[in-house]
Parts: sequence; C-alpha cells; structure tokens
Amino acid sequence: MSKSNEFPEDFLWGAATASFQIEGATTADGRGRSIWDTFCDTPGKVLGGDTGEPADDHYRRYAEDVALMKRLNLGAYRFSIAWPRIVPDGSGEVNQAGLAFYDRLVDELLEQGIQPWATLYHWDLPQTLEDAGGWPARDTAYRFRDYAKVVADALGDRVEHWMTLNEPWCASFLGYYDGHHAPGHKDPQAALAATHHLLLGHGLATEAIRSTGRPAKIGMAHNQAVIRPHGPSAEDARAARRADGVRNRIFIDPVLHGRYPADVVEDLAAISDFSFVRDGDLETIGVPIDFLGVNYYTPEWVAASAKGLDPDMVSGEGEAWLGAEPEEVHVSQGLPVTHMGWEIDPTGLFDVLQRLAGESGGIDLYVTENGCAFEDTVTDDGSVHDADRLAYYEGHLRAAREAIHAGIPLRGYFAWSLLDNFEWAWGYSRRFGLVHVDYDTQVRTVKDSGHWYAELAGTGRFPE
Ligand code: NOJ
Repeated sequence: MSKSNEFPEDFLWGAATASFQIEGATTADGRGRSIWDTFCDTPGKVLGGDTGEPADDHYRRYAEDVALMKRLNLGAYRFSIAWPRIVPDGSGEVNQAGLAFYDRLVDELLEQGIQPWATLYHWDLPQTLEDAGGWPARDTAYRFRDYAKVVADALGDRVEHWMTLNEPWCASFLGYYDGHHAPGHKDPQAALAATHHLLLGHGLATEAIRSTGRPAKIGMAHNQAVIRPHGPSAEDARAARRADGVRNRIFIDPVLHGRYPADVVEDLAAISDFSFVRDGDLETIGVPIDFLGVNYYTPEWVAASAKGLDPDMVSGEGEAWLGAEPEEVHVSQGLPVTHMGWEIDPTGLFDVLQRLAGESGGIDLYVTENGCAFEDTVTDDGSVHDADRLAYYEGHLRAAREAIHAGIPLRGYFAWSLLDNFEWAWGYSRRFGLVHVDYDTQVRTVKDSGHWYAELAGTGRFPE
C-alpha cells in the first residue's frame, strides 16, 4: 500500500442508519407498533416529546436517499429492517406490504451499485412481544428466528451481508436495567435474561439465514466498549475488569467462544444464577459467524471510587452498577467532547480493533458505526461547515488506517450516520449525519464532512 493509495483497493466505504431513526411512516402499510413508539408516547422519556414521526421520511424518500449515497461514493449502505413492518404482531402473520418496502430499497441500492448490509434488530421490538414478556422472555428469541427466516427468504437472493443484532448491550441494559431506552424497565434480573435471549436470538437467526442455503455473510454490530482504568491502583484495575465483563465479555465471549466468562458469572452471583441458560444454548450462540462489526464512539475511564477525584470530572458515583462492589465511577479526562458529551479519542478505535482481532481469531472486522454529533446550522450559502465532525472523522479514519497497516483484518467502515436522525432518548436534538436534514421541509444538505468523506470514499486517499 503506497502513500498514494492509503486504504486497500477493496476497502468498503459505507454509511449506516436504522429503521426507527429515519423511516417515519410509523402507521403506513400495516406496520405494527414497536416499543419505541410506546416509549415516545410516554411523557418524559424522550427529549422534547419527539417521536418516530417524521424522522427523515425515508420510507417515502428512499430513492432520493439512495441517490445521495451514490453522490457520496458509498460502496455499501447499512440499514435496519423494522420487525413491526414485517411481522406487525411479532409472531404470526407476515405483512407483505412491509417486506415490499425493503424489496424496493434493496433493488434501488443494487441498481446504483451499492451493497445492501441489513441489520435485523436495531431495537424496534414489536410491542405485542414486549407485552408478552419482551427479551427477558425466552420465547422472543424464537420469534426473532422466525422473523429472520421470513426476511432472509424474501431478500436473501440480493442481500448477502447480515447483522443479526445491533448493540445488544443497549437493548438489554439500557432497555431493561437503566431504563433510558425502551421499554424503560429498571430490573437487573430482567436485563440479564434479556442479554441471554438476545444472544440466543442471534444464534437462532444465524442458523435460520444459513438454512436458506443462499450465500450469506453473517455478523453482529457490537458496541464493544473501550474501558480503561483511570489510575494505576489495583482497585481501579479491578473496577475496569468488572466493567469490561458486564459491558463486553458477557456478550462477546458467548458469541466467539460459546461460554460466559467465569469472573462475570461470579461478579453477578448475587443478582442471577444464570438459570435461564439451557442445554445447547451456548452451542447455538457460539455458531460460527463470518465477520464482526464494531460500533465505536468514545473510550471510558473507570475508577473504583470518587474519593480524591474532582467531582466535576466524575459521573455514576453511588450507582453501584449491577451491584458493583467497590463502586464503579466514570472519570472524564478533560478531552474535547462532542454534543453528546462523549470524549474524543481515536486511539480507542485502534485499541478496540486490535483487541477484537486478537480475540476473534482473524475473522473479518468492520467498523459498523463511528461518528459524532455536533450542533450544525445551514449557512446562507446553503452549506454546513462542520469542521469538528470532519476532524473527528479524519482522526478516526487515520486510526483505522493504522490498524490496517498493523495487520488487523479491517475490511470496511460505515459512518454513523448517513442522515441526521432520531437519536433515541435525545430525540432530534442531536445531529449525527453526513447529510443535514431540515425536519420541517425534509430538505437534505450534504455537510462539509459529507463532501470530505465522499472524496475519501471515491479515491481511497485522505483529501489534501
Ligand atoms: C449506536 C446506535 O446503534 C445508534 O442507533 C445511535 O444513533 C448511535 N450509537 C449514536 O448514539
């Protein structure tokens, strides 16, 4: 690889979105309700009372959006399929009109020479399934398998790349323990059962896709957190080990190695006896996959106690996350932050790729999300001068290039996100797009970062 060709010839350049965050049209063509519709309708859960309407009205404007992807020189587009559009009640009848939308989208992408990368679960669980127990109920994993089979049967002749789950940690722990995401519960046992059933769903869905006999590359988009001890003490190292266990290894070890880590099971003994694990589950969860996707935004520094630390720099004090003993506190390092308040540190991207390359035994890695929110405005000349975002992308893509040079099998990168969109509990207040969206008019404006990314994607070289 010479300087003039800084990324490998076949490096995949993409951007990502998710159904609930962009589609809108929440009642169109027989779509059922999801837990996020309910959460949005619950006062106080989502900033400003924002909902899945209108989002980016992508359900109707998908062709315009694919044309934008083409302008951005994307080779691949990562999107998610809304389970409640396909199986409105979560199980039983299939809604052909919902499937037809993804059919049209996939055809349009292929027409423009853009690879479709489909995520099966990006958090919009059908409400009917939540009413029946949600992810803490084992049955949900089997319903997920059935839905995955329906989608793979319908689209598998054109979609080769699949991600079963997006960020299962958020789905289980933010949804069922911390309560900041739908369905908004605060129950540690439920969160652990949800974790297991999400993973079981991953394994069952993988088998279901493979059972179609079509060529398929299957992975998961995992938010492996980069957790660093704040100080050199043994206590901080212990707190970081524990945090790494319940954030990362509880997900990645079963998927890659077919087992829950012994120290995590021990750490959580007071909360759960893991009796939700049945014979054969771990074999199913550990079924071989073809690639691993990693979503990376920021590293985290963890200390065992807030004692002696600047109170302004500490968060999570006294939370005793999942009964942590000693407590686990998060310590800001005073680095520049994005509009989410997340510290910017591209070395974390290199570290997470290096770690996963080591742990996954050399399967292909993709950055399935990376990006940042900043407060953007469209200027009088019709531009968005988002220098901060551009610098974020440049820093992280330089780290990605270092990883490739170090021999890490990183095959592609998806920017989060193609479009400004619904940022979950933050509603529309946080903008992550390469493309600005005016939610009143639905006018799209490519930001400076989008133009920059398009050049990089088109040439494989950092713009001068
Ligand atoms: C990860 C999630 O997958 C995505 O939905 C979200 O918008 C981004 N992180 C930014 O928070």
